[in-house]
Amino acid sequence: MASKNKLARFAEMETFENTFQPSLNDIMDADFRFRGRWNEYFENDNPIVLELGCGKGEYSIGLAKMCPEKNFIGIDIKGARIWKGAKQGEEEQLKNACFIRTKIDFVSRFFGANEVDEIWCTFSDPQPKKPNKRLTSRIFINRYRSFLKKEGVVHLKTDSDLLFESTEEQISEFNYNELFKTWDLYGEGIHGLSDDEKSILEIKTFYEKMWLKEGKRIKYVKFQIDQDD
Ligand SMILES: C[S@@+](CC[C@H](N)C(=O)[O-])C[C@H]1O[C@@H](n2cnc3c(N)ncnc32)[C@H](O)[C@@H]1O
Repeated sequence: MASKNKLARFAEMETFENTFQPSLNDIMDADFRFRGRWNEYFENDNPIVLELGCGKGEYSIGLAKMCPEKNFIGIDIKGARIWKGAKQGEEEQLKNACFIRTKIDFVSRFFGANEVDEIWCTFSDPQPKKPNKRLTSRIFINRYRSFLKKEGVVHLKTDSDLLFESTEEQISEFNYNELFKTWDLYGEGIHGLSDDEKSILEIKTFYEKMWLKEGKRIKYVKFQIDQDD
């Protein structure tokens, strides 16, 4: 049963203008109201970046502040986590960040073709027993393909060797276009990055801080799903 605190946060979240909590029926019965029309929500045509499994939304909020010329959408099923980022976005009146509480499995119901420019998977669950549930599995990549621009980029930042290795295998098996990869982001990896990329890495998520404290190496890869013709 949810704690009182959680229930209060869920109730508060219903009042947030930056958070969507569609029911399963809403998602199944009809297209999400901003699908293909997120420019109407953000009131601009700026690029759209998703954070999948955003948890407390550190990347969505951090990047929104760092890059006012882009729009950010954090997606997670756990309301108590999303609340943190959504609350900060409301308090700071960030117009270029919002959140959707839903299963990422339904992500293609929320975006139209070519609507999204980038996807961040931040410390996604490695799903040791369910490879098809990994956010970089073929099943999920095909979902992203329905809305990611051809030149769009997928970023994965993880502590998990298993998830990283399986992503490497997918990149190789399906011939995705790998743009950058490091097994040790804060070690040797940092040397291959631009200044902009380095400042993005200053954002550390809740889970990332935990893994760093335990001395885990953080891995990072970015790739395009479709190769240029
Ligand atoms: C390990 S946590 C990482 C959270 C955050 N990105 C961070 O780094 O602190 C993984 C997050 O992904 C979410 N998640 C995993 N699978 C999901 C799915 N299929 N749909 C929606 N959320 C999912 C979980 O609820 C959880 O918040």
